[in-house]
Amino acid sequence: MSSARVFVTRRIPEVGLEIVAAEAEAEVWPDDLPPPREVLLEKVRGLDGLLSLLTDRVDDELLDAAGPQLKVVSNFAVGYDNIDVPACLRRGIAVGNTPGVLTETTADLAFALLMAVARRLPEARDFVREDRWRTWGPLLLLGKDLHGATLGLVGFGRIGREMARRATGFGMRTLYHDVVRAEPEVERSLNASQAPFETVLAESDFVSLHTVLSPETRHLIDAAALARMKPGAILVNTSRGPVVDQEALAEALRSGHLFGAGLDVTDPEPLRADHPLVQLPNCLIVPHIASASERTRDRMAEKAARNLVAGLRGEPLPDPVWT
Ligand code: DGY
Repeated sequence: MSSARVFVTRRIPEVGLEIVAAEAEAEVWPDDLPPPREVLLEKVRGLDGLLSLLTDRVDDELLDAAGPQLKVVSNFAVGYDNIDVPACLRRGIAVGNTPGVLTETTADLAFALLMAVARRLPEARDFVREDRWRTWGPLLLLGKDLHGATLGLVGFGRIGREMARRATGFGMRTLYHDVVRAEPEVERSLNASQAPFETVLAESDFVSLHTVLSPETRHLIDAAALARMKPGAILVNTSRGPVVDQEALAEALRSGHLFGAGLDVTDPEPLRADHPLVQLPNCLIVPHIASASERTRDRMAEKAARNLVAGLRGEPLPDPVWT
């Protein structure tokens, strides 16, 4: 074991902690809630490596507090909008993330949200629990069909493509908006075609968001975008909360322009239970759990740990972030 010191900002699966502990003197934040900012700034002082979560803001202030010996910031997530990457790279600090291992698990959850909202599962469950079930009803809890429907994807990277793959199994076609056009073979096998953003919104029965959060995508789904969506469409967001203007979404759900929404991510997180979106019957919100399967979290822990160790050793990170 080297004399390197690292801080792990939350308990992560054992498989990752073992890799870290075999390499460095590791302190692991023991609470379920993230370390408060002032505590984090104190903890990073003199560190060689930081294993961060998406709840930890890594910016100039934190890097200054850490000091010039900090070699690596390894994020336990594929998204890294919590990290000021240019600030790290300017200081020669390597940054890592966990791509690839959570693709399918995230697509599974996005598809689960899509289906649950389409078939009104949360309302149906409450209906039974509240003892309102009296008889079979021809008009009871009618939902939307998946088969024959069009899935619209904003972002056609790894997770977007896995959504399209799931959609083929349900007899759906996919329209996607992405700056990069997929190879013809990929489009064919996934029954997917590229289309302008406005067309994806206007022609899709379900719109699922798979884009990064950046200044360009903040409130990409605003009142105007929601108005362009088909009446009766469903919005699914497993990307980042601020991609959607939540005030505008609440209005589109209240007015009935949208049939429903399924959100794994919100702005802010957590969203308190008295928030208007949480109270709407046609909005299903889950607490940012898209990658939360036992196997996937193990694999994320292992990846994050290997990035951290490589950075401590001054070796190239297996999964570096460059931008
Ligand atoms: C990520 O990895 O960016 C997800 O939001 C959490 O797994």
